[in-house]
Amino acid sequence: MTATNQFESVFARWMQAPSAFSFWKARVAFYSVLKTLGISPGDEVILSGYTCVMNVNPIKYLGAKPVYVDIEPDTFNINPNLIESKITPKTKVLLAQHTYGYPCDMDKITAIAEKHNLTIIEDCCLCLGSTYKGRKMGTIGKAAYFSFQWNKPFTTGLGGMLITSDELLAKEIQRLRDTEMVQPSLKEVILLAAQLAVYRTFIYPRTTALAQQLFRFLTKKGVVVGSSSSAEFEPIMTADFFKAMSSVQIHSGLNQIKKAEQNIAHRKEMALLYDQLLVQKGFPPRQYDKSVIDPVLVRYPLRIKEKDKAIEQAASAGVELGSWFECPLHPIETPLEKYDYISGMCPEAEKASRETINLPLHPRASKKTVYRTVEFISQFSPAK
Ligand SMILES: Cc1ncc(COP(=O)(O)O)c(C=O)c1O
Repeated sequence: MTATNQFESVFARWMQAPSAFSFWKARVAFYSVLKTLGISPGDEVILSGYTCVMNVNPIKYLGAKPVYVDIEPDTFNINPNLIESKITPKTKVLLAQHTYGYPCDMDKITAIAEKHNLTIIEDCCLCLGSTYKGRKMGTIGKAAYFSFQWNKPFTTGLGGMLITSDELLAKEIQRLRDTEMVQPSLKEVILLAAQLAVYRTFIYPRTTALAQQLFRFLTKKGVVVGSSSSAEFEPIMTADFFKAMSSVQIHSGLNQIKKAEQNIAHRKEMALLYDQLLVQKGFPPRQYDKSVIDPVLVRYPLRIKEKDKAIEQAASAGVELGSWFECPLHPIETPLEKYDYISGMCPEAEKASRETINLPLHPRASKKTVYRTVEFISQFSPAK
């Protein structure tokens, strides 16, 4: 058994899925499933208007149209009550992105998909270990994909995994990989290995903001393997997009997955601590239905006033504040109209972009980090 097969089967077993397929990044996994489903020009894919542009690229690469639906303010997930008005005879896929780790309302989404004969794909890039009515996220839709990029629930530097319980789909994905997938270059693999070593040694909550600035600068200069190249900010597929996971990522993944349950337990414990401390500081408690969902958050989202000021001050105070989905199709540089997003289309998503920061929960964020972070953030008021 190759190391690739080993990682895929360990992941599949852990997710209780019959098959798993690894890729260079999660966006490649998403592309593989859309292509296998035969998504082509004229088709429409429904997704949340609070996402990452790299998630929209695969839809555009295949000539299909992304159709955005606004979010629910509490969970930051697609609002199921708004989906049906966006369905047309061309709609083929409904993408359920479990944002920050909160599971989408899968009962409503499944009912809509069944009524209109749509395929559900789950985007689990920010969601590892969350459950919906006791079921692991990723096991409800026809297929689901996970990301192991730097900020994700666990990291192999870059990386993506697809799971499916549909035998036919699995066969077709394997066929696509056999015929079209390319290998990463030696330079990419060596750079990624070096970056992973630096990350594991030097990146801690106090150094994150500085490291991120340096990483973005070096990515633009082409000196490091960035999460996204500048070519990926255009909806045109590059020749080497459909790439396999490298041996460096596989070995890192095999190590990380051993610690996954511990990682999940840590995230839940730290999220509860944030809950307690933030309420003491006058922030409203999180709102979600505890009898239905058990979220494992990738980062702890919080709405505040004066978000820009907080982020600026946090960097100099050595406090790790994140800001994701700074526009409906993160990051902020995205030319929205090229991706069929018109300003004002998803008002709740745009409001969330303006107000929401996220707090660290990863294994290097200790209780002390949580106390420091809350102390810092309590200088700011909650956004209403
Ligand atoms: C919600 C979501 N889906 C998909 C992706 C794409 O993941 P990857 O960078 O592994 O391609 C991202 C990237 O950050 C994301 O935030």
